[in-house]
Amino acid sequence: MSERKANGAAGPVVILLGPPGAGKGTQAQKLMASRGMVQLSTGDMLRAAVRAGTPVGLEAKAIMEQGGLVPDSVVSGLIDEALAATPPETGIIFDGYPRTLAQAESLDSLLAAHGRHLDRVIELAVDEDALVDRITGRFTCANCGEGYHNRFKRPKVEGVCDRCGSTEFKRRPDDNEATVRTRMAEYRAKTAPILPVYEARGLVARVDGMAPMEDVEREVQALLPA
Ligand code: AP5
Repeated sequence: MSERKANGAAGPVVILLGPPGAGKGTQAQKLMASRGMVQLSTGDMLRAAVRAGTPVGLEAKAIMEQGGLVPDSVVSGLIDEALAATPPETGIIFDGYPRTLAQAESLDSLLAAHGRHLDRVIELAVDEDALVDRITGRFTCANCGEGYHNRFKRPKVEGVCDRCGSTEFKRRPDDNEATVRTRMAEYRAKTAPILPVYEARGLVARVDGMAPMEDVEREVQALLPA
């Protein structure tokens, strides 16, 4: 069976790959809503660990605030746990993982161990200069996590979350310009080299991540296994 064929009875497995602010989280949320897939975001998992003050969170906190990468073994451990907790028929969107060649190798082993394989890698191609603007303008609902942006996506009623009605919003501590630039340098040095590996396996499709969100969503949907 070719690697590109769907996971049989198991749900599709897709990686969204792109630099900070490329729109990985935005598109993952849309796929969850429209396809019932689960979003496995190592960034979200690590932020939850930081909030909970777990040993993983204590190790990750300072690294994340500076825009560096948390050790491979830590994030691969989180993914192993998340895969074990995901029913086999549920489709998976990886958001922010893998981020290094070592993580990409781990992912292959973890997927095999959980009876899955990778169907697609969708690269969100973006203009890095525009990303600082995207990230520093981003905020989320403190209650339900719905994402907003100062300019590109404001709540329909000012100060009130469209989804849950909460009036509390928050911004990530690593969403400042200096940290964003470090995160981008990390992406170029450590994450971008993953792409040729997946290209050689015929898995990569490229989408224009600078297009309006709805257009990006349409293109991403068209690339997913039926
Ligand atoms: P993580 O949480 O993964 O952050 P990131 O990769 O830097 O990505 P972002 O969440 O910033 O961006 P995104 O692509 O999801 O964009 P979004 O959809 O929000 O990682 C954070 C940190 O955790 C790392 O720095 C590292 O320390 C650590 N970490 C995480 N995973 C790790 C791993 N695997 N290994 C080691 N360390 C790890 O969009 C951004 C904004 O743009 C939003 O406001 C959105 O509304 C807007 N927007 C989105 N799409 C569009 C569009 N098409 N047009 C206009 N605006 C748009």
